[in-house]
Amino acid sequence: MRWGVLVGGTGSNLKAMLTSGFSVSLVISHKAGVKALEIARDYGLESCVLMPKDYPDRQAYDAALVEQLSRFGIERVAMAGFLRWLTPETIARYPGAIVNLHPSLLPAYPGLHAIERAFSDGVLWSGVTVHFVDEGHDTGPIVAQVPVPRLVGDALADFEERIHAAEHALYPQVLKALDRGQAALIDGRVEYKKENDQWMHGH
Ligand code: GRF
Repeated sequence: MRWGVLVGGTGSNLKAMLTSGFSVSLVISHKAGVKALEIARDYGLESCVLMPKDYPDRQAYDAALVEQLSRFGIERVAMAGFLRWLTPETIARYPGAIVNLHPSLLPAYPGLHAIERAFSDGVLWSGVTVHFVDEGHDTGPIVAQVPVPRLVGDALADFEERIHAAEHALYPQVLKALDRGQAALIDGRVEYKKENDQWMHGH
């Protein structure tokens, strides 16, 4: 499978994928000058920047996105810090083929600033979720999750670091499992192949 990765920030998850040996065929960023693009360059990957301000609306933006994905023969998409909602048309064009990483145990704390919100609510457990992307906001069928504790004496930065470390461990494993066909979205539900499915819990 040819995977594209959608980014927009520090690219630490892109880096985790690449160091794990997961093969990425294209990187698209919604922001110029971000670290994620440097990482793509360092690894010699094809990359491009699509800035929302260059397009009149979401439809036009996503048309350009799909054009790039098609141009590079991308069949599956992993979102990692891409802070834009895809249009229903884009999602429908890649059925069961777009996944996102979110820094909470969804359905808790969807949306932005999930780690900060969980921390300031004083939760003792949060975590990381990988889910298929649907038309809602962080609502798609869950593929894999790992819990992450907030420990006594944690500052926000400690908690954030622990969550990000869990992301870096989980996401590459899940992407490799999806690439091998160990789980798939069938009629809106995630179906797992029974053998060796511990990755869904981050093991
Ligand atoms: C991650 O925390 C991910 O869960 C969220 O955006 C962040 C991306 O970080 N969707 P990075 O750019 O991979 O470092």
